[in-house]
Amino acid sequence: MAEKANTAQITFEGKTQELPILEGTIGPHVIDIAKLYGQSDVFTYDPGFTSTAACKSAITYIDGDAGILLHRGYPIEQLAMNGDFIETCYLLYYGELPNKEQRKTFETAITRHTMVHEQMARLFSGFRRDAHPMAVMVAVVGALSAFYQDSTDITDPRQREIASHRMIAKLPTIAAMAYKYHIGQPFIYPRNDLPYAANFLHMCFAVPAEKYEVNPVLARAMDRIFMLHADHEQNASTSTVRLAGSSGANPFACIAAGIACLWGPAHGGANEAALKMLEEIGTADKIPSFIEKVKDKSSNVRLMGFGHRVYKNYDPRAKIMQETAYEVFDALGVADDPLLEVAKQLEQIALSDQYFIDRKLYPNVDFYSGIILRAMGFPTHMFTVLFALARTVGWISQWKEMIEDPSQRIGRPRQLYVGPTQRDYVKAEKR
Ligand code: ACO
Repeated sequence: MAEKANTAQITFEGKTQELPILEGTIGPHVIDIAKLYGQSDVFTYDPGFTSTAACKSAITYIDGDAGILLHRGYPIEQLAMNGDFIETCYLLYYGELPNKEQRKTFETAITRHTMVHEQMARLFSGFRRDAHPMAVMVAVVGALSAFYQDSTDITDPRQREIASHRMIAKLPTIAAMAYKYHIGQPFIYPRNDLPYAANFLHMCFAVPAEKYEVNPVLARAMDRIFMLHADHEQNASTSTVRLAGSSGANPFACIAAGIACLWGPAHGGANEAALKMLEEIGTADKIPSFIEKVKDKSSNVRLMGFGHRVYKNYDPRAKIMQETAYEVFDALGVADDPLLEVAKQLEQIALSDQYFIDRKLYPNVDFYSGIILRAMGFPTHMFTVLFALARTVGWISQWKEMIEDPSQRIGRPRQLYVGPTQRDYVKAEKR
């Protein structure tokens, strides 16, 4: 394929076709192949979509080589250091940082939607107590469309907004209910006098028998973890939400689809794996032999929480996560926790080792998040639930952007068919 002015050309079976080149505000150029099949009898092949943009988006930008993550143009570091999750939600959803009045109105709308229909509590009792909380999340979030039918008309902008507010508001309540059900404790109702993250911690860790004060350092850490997971452009779960939404499915069903996709260990489950690895290493003196094992290709052992498909530099979220880890361990009076020590030393050793330098392997967001969540009191099977809670605003913002895009059509990937060619039916007695 050659590039000429603002078009690229593709020659197939002697016929040359001009393909427009599109330019974003930043990032690589994009060759528009939308009309390729219409004009010549050929598809493109890109399993895993590593070279294919499936949509236009103005929400999040990632430059993996430079280690940059921008939400609506703002670097994640600046948002995490100066703002909070509610502000990030507003930014992702509406496109701008809110002024004082806008923030107040938005926060009130979210706060007023934190309770779930009382009948929903009964849904939980249909599940086994030992069910994975993500299994419960997929089902209960999908069931929201059975309870909030007055916000499922996707052609009505106000209904779309109400459904979005409902999900940002209710996901913490549902996540906390999934946790409480799993451990056999009564559900704790939301408290609208508490900020978003503090309210979530309260619903998870309070019990009716005694007063529970939310530790402000932990609430701040939780809020930051939510911010760091809020959106990450067209990853697998976000693309799932968009694809589900492209058929006109209601937003609750689309987010349930996103949660199902996030559940996979290659996506949302990596922080669990990173924590497990740190626990297996156990003490700093075992690090050198572990690193040798990682470098030995025949062992199939990877340094979990290191490396990323997109980031070939420090994942900007990892640095903030590391600082958050120190704050949390300090606040809990366990700054000398052996796992934190293992993580710190492992990171130092890996960053100065030629194997990792040559392959551009740096810590990703999951390297520290698992040990923070564990220190806060969450069991490992809640980690992906927390990720889903935080990512809901990203999914819903991407869904809204898609619905409002006049060029939006149902998503329908093509295939390279490799099955049998046409053949005649063989009657059962002759097979
Ligand atoms: N430990 C050791 N070696 C690694 C690691 C790692 N974590 N990651 C990559 N490598 C090596 C590979 O063995 C390969 O080496 P080679 O060139 O000698 O064969 C080279 O680096 C390139 O690896 P790929 O697998 O091609 O890199 P890719 O971009 O496909 O993988 C991935 C990215 C899957 C994240 C990988 O780095 C990995 O498995 N990391 C550990 C799991 C993890 O932390 N996942 C969380 C990602 S963040 C998130 O999803 C929110």
